[in-house]
Amino acid sequence: MSDFELNPFYELIINDLVNRKYSVVDTFFSPKEIELLRANLKLKRELQSFKKAAIGNNDGQQIVEEIRGDSILWLDEEHPDEVEQMYFDRVNDFIQYMNRTCYLGLQGGEFHYACYPKGTFYKRHLDVFHTDTRRTLSMVLYLNDEDWTPAYGGQLALFLKNEQGVEYEEIVHALPGRLVIFDSKIIEHEVKLVNQPRYSITGWIKTR
Ligand code: OGA
Ligand code: MN
Repeated sequence: MSDFELNPFYELIINDLVNRKYSVVDTFFSPKEIELLRANLKLKRELQSFKKAAIGNNDGQQIVEEIRGDSILWLDEEHPDEVEQMYFDRVNDFIQYMNRTCYLGLQGGEFHYACYPKGTFYKRHLDVFHTDTRRTLSMVLYLNDEDWTPAYGGQLALFLKNEQGVEYEEIVHALPGRLVIFDSKIIEHEVKLVNQPRYSITGWIKTR
């Protein structure tokens, strides 16, 4: 037998993903780690230029603020700082676990910091491109300030179907430390109007 050890926390996430294609957890990272990641994002925001996020991929990128108003900075896995290294270590541990238990053939990912200024949003969309379907799991980690409240808006809405096939919106508040993982190929979603600067690391775990 192998030395494989079940991880009950990962199992919860995987159960959610299998049963309903999304999972919301608040303890993937510790409060201390969230604090470090938030401080890192704010530092990068001062030192490096976030760019207005575009829609589409290599075949044609466009900035369309009527669709998407966030600014982003991609993390560089080849040259991470100490805090980003911690982030990648944790995500890669989860990827490794998924590959040993679910045979999804996941192979790393791509991740960016995101900042939504007040007054912005991201209209309903799917995260996969027509010409590149490697994105498999979407991961959003909220790094908002500790005093974040639902009144600040910026909820993530997941468009799901009930047993009768009727569509409904599952609303997820962007609480600091919250991690949302969902099936990139199936779940359409949107970011509601933001009333307070909204911070996250968003990314995608991909297949070969
Ligand atoms: C995205 C996205 C959701 C969120 O960046 O593609 O849908 O809650 N983000 O920030
Ligand atoms: Mn998205």
